[in-house]
Amino acid sequence: MNTATPPPAPVPAGDYVHGYSPREGRRLGDQADTLAQLLHSGTAYPAGSRVLELGCGIGAQTVHLLRSSPRAHIVAVDRSEESLARARTRVAGSAPHARVEWRNADVYDLPFADAEFDHVFVCFVLEHLPDPRRALTGLRRVLRPGGTITVIEGDHGSAFFHPDSAFARAAINCQVRLQAAAGGDAQLGRQVQPLLAGAGYDEVAVRPLTVYADGTLPALVEGFTRNTFIAMVASVRDKALAASLTTTAEWEQGIADLCRTAEDDGTFHYTFFKGVAVNPPPPAGN
Ligand SMILES: C[S@@+](CC[C@H](N)C(=O)[O-])C[C@H]1O[C@@H](n2cnc3c(N)ncnc32)[C@H](O)[C@@H]1O
Repeated sequence: MNTATPPPAPVPAGDYVHGYSPREGRRLGDQADTLAQLLHSGTAYPAGSRVLELGCGIGAQTVHLLRSSPRAHIVAVDRSEESLARARTRVAGSAPHARVEWRNADVYDLPFADAEFDHVFVCFVLEHLPDPRRALTGLRRVLRPGGTITVIEGDHGSAFFHPDSAFARAAINCQVRLQAAAGGDAQLGRQVQPLLAGAGYDEVAVRPLTVYADGTLPALVEGFTRNTFIAMVASVRDKALAASLTTTAEWEQGIADLCRTAEDDGTFHYTFFKGVAVNPPPPAGN
């Protein structure tokens, strides 16, 4: 088993660990649809409010934002033009009359005026950024005082399962290490509260949102364990082998053992963290 200290960064900084393949697009869609009730419950924006969705990807969360807030004005931003094109198509198919403005931009250089938004929504993006606190601080500039930010992140340290397997844990760890080498943090969920507070937000409230799938919940096993989590780990196979983080035999055993947890007598647990916070007014005199 290859659990030694990781070799020097195998992925150039800034390389996005999941990539932008059609298969990854399908995975994002399965993830958002399977987890919509869990992740979007309690998130609804008033008619006419301006909402910035940062890192919208292929629009997988955008369709659920629109479902809960059909009359909000959503501005969806991503640095990938290709993902934005797919997001337009996805939203046009499910909510043809929705008010969505699509913008190609980087979180560190947002092309918006100060205090332009009433709310900000960020899902599964901070975990890919080399400096999530700087990103959150920059988002305060475009959020009006009193406006809210919602942040949702996973944490791979929360993945445990039955039957347990050191090979399966090592396969997950390959993804954690590749994401770290690309500047991200696959265990960022546990930091949502300190990151929001450190960036200067007020009234920070974080809730853990647990997914637990077993044989009595076949739709969750299919949608989450297989099509979201195992698919995500399996997608880094070539990068993990190229970086010598694993061997072909160890990798195949790890993926087989993860798939074993999705059988009738297997179980799988994972926790997401959802934080909501308020942008405070600037100090008096500013
Ligand atoms: C894991 S995907 C999540 C997409 C979507 N939020 C969802 O939950 O389905 C992360 C997205 O963040 C985008 N992203 C990463 N770094 C970014 C940056 N610096 N500025 C803007 N978008 C970024 C990626 O292009 C990708 O589409």
